[in-house]
Amino acid sequence: MNVLLINGSPHKNGCTYTALAEVAKTLEAEGIETTIFHIGAAPVGGCVGCGGCAKAGKCVFGGPVVDVLPLLEKADGVVFGAPVHYATAAAGMLGFMHRLSYSAGRYLRHKPAAIVTSARRAGTTTALEAMEKIPQFYEMPLVNSTYWPMVHGSNAAEAAQDLEGMQIMRNLGRNMAWMLRCIEAGKAAGIQPPEAESAARTNFIR
Ligand SMILES: Cc1cc2nc3c(=O)[nH]c(=O)nc-3n(C[C@H](O)[C@H](O)[C@H](O)COP(=O)(O)O)c2cc1C
Repeated sequence: MNVLLINGSPHKNGCTYTALAEVAKTLEAEGIETTIFHIGAAPVGGCVGCGGCAKAGKCVFGGPVVDVLPLLEKADGVVFGAPVHYATAAAGMLGFMHRLSYSAGRYLRHKPAAIVTSARRAGTTTALEAMEKIPQFYEMPLVNSTYWPMVHGSNAAEAAQDLEGMQIMRNLGRNMAWMLRCIEAGKAAGIQPPEAESAARTNFIR
C-alpha cells in the first residue's frame, strides 16, 4: 500500500514538510510506502473553470497539478498539507487542490484522506476547514488524529520542537494505516465502495 503526502508550502523542507515527514515515518514503520510530493515554490493559480480538462483528461494549465497524477493514480491514501497564509490555507495549495479536484477527481474518489497544516500562531482551524472541502466532495473518508492536525513554528526546527504537534502527526499516521488495512480487508471480503447517484443537478432553481 502507498500513501501520497502533498506538501502545499512554497518551502520544500519547512514546517509543513516536517509535519508530513513525521506522518510518513510512522506509515513506513507500519509497512506502508510513502511519497512526499512538493507543489513547488512558483505561484500556483486556481481553477478558471475552462472545462479543458474534460477533453484532455488533465488540467490544461499543467504544472504540479499534472505532475502529481502518476503518483496520485497509484496512491491508496492521500495527505494534503499546507501552511497557514493570512489565516487560511496557503492560496497556492488551495489553487492546486481546486484544479486537481476539477480535473482529476477520479484519482481521489473513495481514497482515505487526511489534512495537515502548520502555522506560526493563528488560522489553523480555518485552513483545515478550507482544505477539507475537497475530500468531502470526493467521498474520501477523512482520517483524523488526537487533536486537529496542526504543528506550530516558523521553520522546520521550531516545528520539530512542537512535541504535541509531532505526536498528533504520528497518531494520524497510525490512523491512516489502520483505515487502509480496514479498506483492504473489506475489499478482500467483497465489500466495494457504493455507486453514487448523480442524476439530479438543480442549481437551486426548482
Ligand atoms: C504569506 C504568509 C502569510 C502567513 N500568514 C500566517 C498567518 O496568518 N498565521 C500564522 O500563524 N502564520 C502565518 N504565516 C507563517 C506560516 O504559516 C508558518 O511559519 C508556517 O509554519 C510555515 O510553514 P512552511 O515552512 O511549511 O511554509 C504566514 C507566512 C507567510 C509566508
